[in-house]
Amino acid sequence: MTAINAVTDLSKDGDIAIVTLNSPPVNALGADVRDGLAQGFKQAIDDPSVKAIVLICEGKTFIAGADISEFGKPPKGASLFEVENIIEGSPKPVIAAIHGTALGGGLEVALCAHYRVAVPSAKCGLPEVNIGLLPGAGGTQRLPRIVGVEAALDMVTSGKHVGAKQCLESGLVDELAPEGKLKEAAVAFAKKAVAENKPLKKVRDNNAKLEAARGKPEIFANFRKANAKKFRGFMAPEYNIQCIEAAVNAPSFEEGLKTERKLFMELVTGTQSAAQRYVFFAERQVWKIPGIADDTPTIPVKKVGIIGAGTMGGGISMNFLNVGIPVTIVETKQEALDRGVATIRKNYENTAKKGRMTMEDVEKRMALLTPTLKLEDLADVDMVIEAVFERMDIKKDVFGKLDKIVKKGAVLASNTSYLNIDEIASATTRPQDVIGMHFFSPANVMRLLENVRGEKTSDAVVATATQTAKKIGKIAALAGVCPGFIGNRMLSPRQREAQKLVMEGAMPWDVDRALYNFGFPMGPFQMSDLAGLDIGWVKENSKGETIRDRLCELDRRGQKTGAGYYDYDANRNNSPSPVTAEIIEEFRKKSGVNSRSISDEEIVERCIYPMINEGAKILEEGKALRASDIDIVWINGYGWPVYRGGPMFYGDTVGLDKVLAKMKEWQSQMGDAFKPSALLEKLVAEKKKFSDLPPQPLNTKPAK
Ligand code: 3HC
Ligand code: NAI
Repeated sequence: MTAINAVTDLSKDGDIAIVTLNSPPVNALGADVRDGLAQGFKQAIDDPSVKAIVLICEGKTFIAGADISEFGKPPKGASLFEVENIIEGSPKPVIAAIHGTALGGGLEVALCAHYRVAVPSAKCGLPEVNIGLLPGAGGTQRLPRIVGVEAALDMVTSGKHVGAKQCLESGLVDELAPEGKLKEAAVAFAKKAVAENKPLKKVRDNNAKLEAARGKPEIFANFRKANAKKFRGFMAPEYNIQCIEAAVNAPSFEEGLKTERKLFMELVTGTQSAAQRYVFFAERQVWKIPGIADDTPTIPVKKVGIIGAGTMGGGISMNFLNVGIPVTIVETKQEALDRGVATIRKNYENTAKKGRMTMEDVEKRMALLTPTLKLEDLADVDMVIEAVFERMDIKKDVFGKLDKIVKKGAVLASNTSYLNIDEIASATTRPQDVIGMHFFSPANVMRLLENVRGEKTSDAVVATATQTAKKIGKIAALAGVCPGFIGNRMLSPRQREAQKLVMEGAMPWDVDRALYNFGFPMGPFQMSDLAGLDIGWVKENSKGETIRDRLCELDRRGQKTGAGYYDYDANRNNSPSPVTAEIIEEFRKKSGVNSRSISDEEIVERCIYPMINEGAKILEEGKALRASDIDIVWINGYGWPVYRGGPMFYGDTVGLDKVLAKMKEWQSQMGDAFKPSALLEKLVAEKKKFSDLPPQPLNTKPAK
């Protein structure tokens, strides 16, 4: 065995050379790996005793792609194209041996080999679209030549990982190897290729599948139409489609490559991909909690208790039932309990109707659910999640009772949206076991979990809540105790400004349009109509003092009553409401406001910059660990567009000096609601960004 460099070895098995990569954790194509491949292959090609070459990886996976952290940095070492040309141009057959995942640049390298052998558990994919890119090393030109245009369109725009068996069927893989015997199988394949004088199959020369799609532009038109909603706002899916179109229509492989190169460069230097790459790392950072080591002992969660079978309790229960953890759900009245259980069943049955679950799966999950009216039935659970009404007196009463009932050492969690976890914990004799686990509605669907650490919450309980999130497929950000924690605290200024803009001259549909076009799935008024305008509204106390009061008094309580800020037709399509417009006009007149025309740009700035400022205050107070955690909250809990990277990254992108200048301008015009955070001022003075801040420990001291 010869060491080519720190991450590459060259060895021989008879007349077969084996180039082995070992660059943990995922053999990403960093400069070392590219150099190692280039030199390793050159040596093997130059060695007259070598008849064929196998490329294989050590560790958990084949090459998982380009090294994402290298983008935007000056190029170093051999380029990926050089490596690919050496491999594809090899006069001796090259066999890629795939286990784990062959992704992005990894699959592109494998596509330059003449043959591919994989174990059945291996997966292949071109996931560049998920980081705002396209496969920029020939992937968009080679993939459709093997799997066909439709399958390639699907793979490059979804980023899907395709299993080896399916790859074998599509021709992407030539042979399956027994699990654990990849090297032997690949070498045997290579020997056979030599013995049988198999041709040096170059994917680039294989045009049959492209020809089948030539002169059929409808393939692309239909694909775009079918996916328009999913791709809205994102550049990368469209650019990927254009590359596949180029593969079909360009006069040669090289011409297609030129289009791919040009579009790749545009994406890789743009803000969308920068944002999506940032999110890739943010999603991995969020699990790392300063001060809590990965091996912190956790409490095994084998049985869960949920209190309240309303909107949230039902959804939260489903998360646990889905992964086989039994749930005992508690209500105060039989009727509410029955309703909650029936909703859970209906949700599962709907999933089964759509073919995404069998009826047997439904019954399996329902069998794990124990409905009860007795809190005492929670005595032996390992984790309780309380989801009763958002009232401190009720929550304290529940926690006081839990303290006496539930076995020692269990996690006692609250799903409160705003309330003080320390005060809830004070109702128990074991505040170290109390934590906030704030799910988002619908709790069985939304990926975010905001875990809220109280002053006395133990490390073990924080680690358990984090691990539980992983177990049920969520992404968890840790927050400190403050009103609304991270997400809802930042939502407040956005809601406040949306309301104020309406009083100044924008209509609710103007505000919604501006934020929808920014990339949110819906605007704040559409969201109110969806959630119901009457949340927290009490008919008896309503005195028509706000626009909302007036709408509710007219029984315009949102989508459920067929009208709210908007009018709705039978299919729940909305249209601007003249009734709402009239009420707004009345309110403006009453307050002596002269309506002005407000641009979409101003609407976006007024709604978003105060959120960024609030995020800065959260960081300044130590209520979040890092700016990127805040971005994770907004992307996964509130539909913030991924291609804008989250509010803090967006602030960095537009320039914190610009955000600060606007806050100051508004502060002088409209008062201290716009007071800039000290951290924002400091970062601007130091010409720094939120992303320059290192992770910080959480401040668990009660807020002043
Ligand atoms: N570049 C740099 N670092 C990477 C990386 C990559 N392509 N892929 C993974 N990593 C890092 C992660 O950041 C993480 O680092 P950390 O431990 O310091 O947090 C570590 O590797 C392990 O990753 P995961 O925690 O994600 O490990 P999993 O086992 O859960 O998943 C994986 C493995 C499926 C390979 C997953 O990491 C993944 O999807 N990676 C990205 C794949 C990708 O997008 N490839 C395309 C890159 S772009 C490209 O190739 C352009 C080309 O066309 C020119
Ligand atoms: P909900 O009104 O739909 O359900 C609450 C349920 O709790 C009711 O069924 C009620 O009968 C039951 N309940 C009340 N007191 C009880 C008690 N002492 N013992 C057992 N059951 C009791 O309310 P929702 O929306 O599910 O909210 C629950 C909690 O989740 C609140 O703290 C809320 O702030 C929080 N939350 C709500 C979100 C939402 O979008 N609805 C999102 C995130 C958190």
